[in-house]
Formats: sequence, structure tokens, C-alpha cells
Amino acid sequence: MEKRTLLVDLNERAYPIHIGAGLLSQTPALLQEANIKVSQKLFLITDAHVAQHYLKPLQLLLEQAGYQVFSHIVVAGEKAKQFAVYEEVMTAAIEAGLDRKSVVLALGGGVVGDLAGFVAATYMRGIDFVQIPTSLLAHDSSVGGKVAINHRLGKNLIGAFHQPLMVIYDVDTLQTLPRREISAGFAEVIKHGLISDEGFVGWLEEHAKGLMELDAKLVSEAIYRGCAVKAAVVAKDETEQDIRMTLNVGHTFGHAFEALTGYGQLNHGEAISIGMVLAARYAESIGMSPEGVAKRTKRVLAAFGLPTQWPKELHPEDVLRAMHLDKKGVAGTLTLVLPTSMEHVEIVPRVKEEDVLRFMSEEWEESQK
Ligand SMILES: NC(=O)c1ccc[n+]([C@@H]2O[C@H](COP(=O)([O-])OP(=O)(O)OC[C@H]3O[C@@H](n4cnc5c(N)ncnc54)[C@H](O)[C@@H]3O)[C@@H](O)[C@H]2O)c1
Ligand SMILES: [Zn+2]
Repeated sequence: MEKRTLLVDLNERAYPIHIGAGLLSQTPALLQEANIKVSQKLFLITDAHVAQHYLKPLQLLLEQAGYQVFSHIVVAGEKAKQFAVYEEVMTAAIEAGLDRKSVVLALGGGVVGDLAGFVAATYMRGIDFVQIPTSLLAHDSSVGGKVAINHRLGKNLIGAFHQPLMVIYDVDTLQTLPRREISAGFAEVIKHGLISDEGFVGWLEEHAKGLMELDAKLVSEAIYRGCAVKAAVVAKDETEQDIRMTLNVGHTFGHAFEALTGYGQLNHGEAISIGMVLAARYAESIGMSPEGVAKRTKRVLAAFGLPTQWPKELHPEDVLRAMHLDKKGVAGTLTLVLPTSMEHVEIVPRVKEEDVLRFMSEEWEESQK
């Protein structure tokens, strides 16, 4: 299968996303294409799961091409986005003697991308990095240059905007991804449909089975279209002044669920899956969206094995508190991103928190039955 390339159009920070099967083996050639010279040290950051499958072969390939490669393996999962791990990676970078010309390679899912990207954004005030995503969810995090680590009081609170030089997306790597993570990745793909393209949502639902089985052609198409939606939004609003916020549909609820379950029980994709259904139900309840949008949203997500119900162990008041800590909240009220159809969402500022609490209490009561 040939590779497809999407350009993220950000003027002097524009970069290509290469998508296809077998691309990992083309990494040295692609780095050279991006003008990364063998004299530049490479710092490969990955996590313990991904390292098992892909670290040695990739490192070997790069060394055979003449690159000097340092690697660092972090713990797998969201805990890698904590201060202690960030410090540990920085120490390794300094000990490896990286300089301002060195390049960070982020080999892994969204967690590694966010962490390694933040390391790159801050090491010596910023060095280049290349994303090599290995999870489906990372199709989202690899576009747009948001990089961050978490604080114990909230997710992604410490971060930067730092665009990668290039993204190398080898869909073959998804073969080792646990099924639950595949589902979670599709939550963000579906989100990209829901904010802009009902046809894409329909296509996803129609091909849910083949997509979940990771048919390389279908998955490449889904990633390409998902990245294209995000790239178009980011190109209009790189630093999230306005319309980029539409990408947060389902995330205000979702981040609260993730925070309250200790970034564990529900993964990011699962949390926003429930969040997107809640956003649609809330939009319907205030007459912002026609009836049926919530039901259809739920059906598409369920086709990918994603949860769509209020997590019954979570109390609405705790969720509201957690929503406030999410950085999108503005004093006393909440800003929500709500759908108006199967392909459009709107940013709704100053939603009264008592209204949201009432709505959530109804959802919670429903979940207790
Ligand atoms: N920067 C952004 O714009 C942005 C957008 C969306 C999500 N995110 C962030 O992305 C993170 C979630 O990303 P994720 O779901 O990819 O999580 P992740 O990176 O933790 O990956 C999920 C799990 O799958 C494993 N894994 C990854 N690739 C694998 C492979 N090919 N084979 C076997 N195992 C593999 C990982 O080790 C981990 O255990 C969150 O921290 C979220 O905040 C960032
Ligand atoms: Zn997300």
C-alpha cells in the first residue's frame, strides 16, 4: 500500500503527516527528506509497551543509516505525563549531551507524544521533534502541536504549543494495540466526523467492523480524514483562540470523568465517548439540537465498543467540581461545546452551572436504576 501525505498548513510551521503501512522502515529516508542530518543527535522517547515491539528495530535502522541515537523508555500509560517522569526524561536528555540541533522522536501513543513534545518544547528553550504515533488516538494528538503534562489538580495544565517537524504514521503498528485502545482511538475519529462531516460519520458506522479489524486501507482512510478535519481547524486557529475549541466537544465532561477515576478506570477515548453523548443529550434538552442527534451519536460510538452511559459510581456534584478545574471553565459558569446536528458543534459560553448540575443529576439517577 502506498503512503498518503497530508500537509498541516501552518505557514512556516507547516508539516507533513505521512500515513500508510510499513512506514516505520522508511523512517531514515523520511528524516533525510525533512533535512535532519546524521550529525544531529536523535533522542527517541517511547514507553514500556511500545518499546517491546518497535524500539530495537527502529533504533537499529536509524543507526544503520548513520544516526547517533539515544533512547529513553518511560512507564506506560497516563502516569508518564507527571512531573517526575518529565524530570527523568530531561535528565536523560542532558546526560546524553543533546544540544539545540538534536531532534526528539516520539514513538508511542498520545501520552508519549504529549510528554516527548513537551520535553522538545522546553529542552534548551525548544528543539525539533518528530511524531511517530503508534496508537489510533494519537491521530488526534499528532495534529496541532499541543503538548503537555498533567498536574495532580488537572490534566494537561502544564504545556506549550510546539509543532512537530513531521509525523510518520505506520498503520501496521496498530496491530499490537489492545482492542480497548483501538475503540478509544475511534472515539476521537468519530469526534472529527461529528464536528464537520456527517458523511464521514456514516462511513465510519458502515465500516465499523472492518475498521475494528484494522483493515489497513480503511484505517489509513479513517486516520487521513480524521487528521484532515483537525488540520483544517488548527490551520484557522493555531493557538485555540476560538474555533479550535470546537475540537473539545465531549471533553469538558470527559476530562472530569478521567480526573475523578484517577486517570485510569476510563481511558481518554472512553471518557470523551460518554462526554459526546452527554453533550448531545444536553443540547437536545435545551432545544439546541434536533431530537435524534444524541441517539445516533450513541449508536455510532457503540458500534466501536465504546461506553455511552453516565459512569454510575460518579456523583454529579463531584463531576461539576472537576469540570471547574478543567481549564476551559470561566468563573461561576461553564463553557460547553454542543452539537447542533450530526456535523456541526457550537461553543456555548456562560452556561449556568445549576442547569448543568440538574441535567447531570437526571443522568445520574437514570444510571442508578
Ligand atoms: N495533544 C493533543 O492534542 C491531544 C489530543 C488528544 C489526546 N491527547 C492525549 O493523548 C493521551 C492518550 O493517548 P493514547 O490513548 O494514545 O494513550 P497512550 O499513549 O497511553 O496509549 C494507550 C496504551 O496503549 C499502549 N500502546 C500504544 N501504542 C501501542 C502499540 N502500537 N502496541 C501496543 N501497545 C501500544 C500504550 O503503552 C498505553 O498502554 C492523553 O494523555 C490525552 O490527553 C492529546
Ligand atoms: Zn481528546
